[in-house]
Amino acid sequence: MNKIFIVGNWKMNPQTSREAIHLLSSIKTRIENTKKVEVVICPPFVYLAGIGKKKSAKIRLGSQDCFWEEKVAFTGEVSSLMLKDLGCSYVIVGHSERRKYFHESDTMINKKLKSVLGQGLRPILCIDKVSQIKKDIKGIPEKKVKKIILAYEPIWAIGTGKACSFKQAKKFNLSIKRVLGKNHPVLYGGSVSSQNALGYIKEAQFQGLLIGGASLKPKEFVKVIELMA
Ligand code: PGA
Repeated sequence: MNKIFIVGNWKMNPQTSREAIHLLSSIKTRIENTKKVEVVICPPFVYLAGIGKKKSAKIRLGSQDCFWEEKVAFTGEVSSLMLKDLGCSYVIVGHSERRKYFHESDTMINKKLKSVLGQGLRPILCIDKVSQIKKDIKGIPEKKVKKIILAYEPIWAIGTGKACSFKQAKKFNLSIKRVLGKNHPVLYGGSVSSQNALGYIKEAQFQGLLIGGASLKPKEFVKVIELMA
């Protein structure tokens, strides 16, 4: 049986590295059974090294973004190669906040996907419209497309507490699978909590969840993981 992905996107939280380590240990010490679950934590870039050193074998490290070039003059950017070196296994690409506030286009997202896949890491590609998929994966060989984890995140559901209905989410899940194949892993994201988590897996048939706000609450995040197990 394929594992369920539970991905915590910490966004720009917490505010200090001390708090980040504290958050990690509160999660780490609570996690027991992860046999059926792939737990991924995506902290801000600056905490990746520290979290990487302190995390347990039950947790995988992911980044919230990357740049597509590998070296030379790109002030402020972080490459997929650097992320791999830090021990990341996953990279979130094309989150709606990056598309909106940093004007990331499908062309840029496409380059990022190629760079992440080129390093042998797994991208978690966020979309809110099925039409974005073809543009984002343009020119990527089918074998590599299989490595991309999709995350359907309706913009209006992100951080609002208004989660998408299971029925509507399932409709999107099936439309995505029509493009990428029925076994392609698709996650749901947008106001996920321990109250609705299981419904997205059982009713809406997703292969996992991308969790923002609730991933900062250790009890809540671990409860979601336990529900999957
Ligand atoms: P949320 O964020 O769970 O706080 O809605 C999800 C996301 O942005 O990935």
